[in-house]
Amino acid sequence: MSDLESCTEHVNALVAENADIIFNKKVTLAEERKWLSGELEKMEKKEGIPLVPEINGEFGGLCGVSKQKGKLSHIAKFGIAIKKKFRGTGIGTKVLLKAIEETKKQFPEVEIIELDVFATNEIAKRAYMKVGFKEVAVLPKGVKSNNKYVDRIVMYLELER
Ligand SMILES: CC(C)(COP(=O)(O)OP(=O)(O)OC[C@H]1O[C@@H](n2cnc3c(N)ncnc32)[C@H](O)[C@@H]1OP(=O)(O)O)[C@@H](O)C(=O)NCCC(=O)NCCS
Repeated sequence: MSDLESCTEHVNALVAENADIIFNKKVTLAEERKWLSGELEKMEKKEGIPLVPEINGEFGGLCGVSKQKGKLSHIAKFGIAIKKKFRGTGIGTKVLLKAIEETKKQFPEVEIIELDVFATNEIAKRAYMKVGFKEVAVLPKGVKSNNKYVDRIVMYLELER
């Protein structure tokens, strides 16, 4: 399977399981190709770091770091989703630690990593806290899914160098 097919299948599996992520609609190969080329362009412009964990030679999920711009250039945002069959084995924690390490190495001007997590996503909150993130704000009703609201939590990590 090509990288593009693996990524498309991964996103669509997350949508099908109704994971606590922003996406709620399946994507086509063409849409995923466009998104992936945007991520690669960001990498070339030194504005992003895509991380793809490989487990026993198999695609294990996606993690992305996006450097913010202008007066927010000292901030990077994180996103992560591990393939369902590999979760709960410590892989998410390992990938987050690697993403933090690469952010420090590749983006010397970044001081803060910021992310959003759905209040219902206890596993993600636990994984983020394990690697040093703190909850700093709650956006009430920050998520609307199937006409139900969930709070959105803002977490942050100040990088030590
Ligand atoms: C969130 C995510 C990246 C965490 O990665 P993971 O590999 O599943 O997590 P880890 O195995 O590294 O475990 C992290 C912590 O969560 C706990 N945890 C993991 N799976 C759990 C489960 N099924 N039930 C309860 N706790 C669980 C672990 O115990 C660990 O904490 P501990 O070491 O203090 O016990 C992963 O579950 C995922 O991709 N989920 C779907 C997409 C998603 O929610 N992304 C985040 C959006 S903000």
